[in-house]
Amino acid sequence: MRVELTVNGERRSDEVEPRLLLVHYLREVCGLRAANVGCDTTSCGACTVLLDGESVKSCTVLAAQAAGQQVTTAEGLAPPGELHPVQRAFRAEHGLQCGFCTPGMVMAAVGLLAEHPRPTEAQVREGLEGNLCRCTGYHNIVRAVLAASGQLAAGPLAAGPLAAGPLAAGPLAAGPLATSGQLAAGPAPDQAGVSA
Ligand code: FES
Ligand code: FES
Repeated sequence: MRVELTVNGERRSDEVEPRLLLVHYLREVCGLRAANVGCDTTSCGACTVLLDGESVKSCTVLAAQAAGQQVTTAEGLAPPGELHPVQRAFRAEHGLQCGFCTPGMVMAAVGLLAEHPRPTEAQVREGLEGNLCRCTGYHNIVRAVLAASGQLAAGPLAAGPLAAGPLAAGPLAAGPLATSGQLAAGPAPDQAGVSA
């Protein structure tokens, strides 16, 4: 069947099998490897992307179900060579180690902040509970999301990399979600454990 959708601002029309999962469509047809496959049980969140602005686990969605919608992956969060404020916050707050969970974690955070621009720590923890990280213990990830939300604007980050970013005018207000680009934050997502 033919599926027509927009991926990172680029309109696409591809012939796919009806059973093809969105995460496999993104990785194998589009060549976008940020969304990882970390489980067979829809529980890890490593495959999280935005579908019309809402974060979804792309292993739970058929490519055909995304027809007519806007898909954003971590590669498309910022223009080439630039970082989205959430990506910058993850780097500034050391919110990653191996990096395998990071693209999904970042996308979940972007979705969370779109819904709750000024979340509490509890809301961040609840909002990210569908995304698993086996390296960081979550503390720095939560710090990163709070930093990106502007909650730490008066703290150490006030003079840091976030201070001059789009968040100065409101969280994610200028987030170029529709543009294409390369994931520049953290280690390459294609690491051991990535499914084919
Ligand atoms: S690969 Fe999608 S939730 Fe684990
Ligand atoms: S940094 Fe999260 S799984 Fe390694």
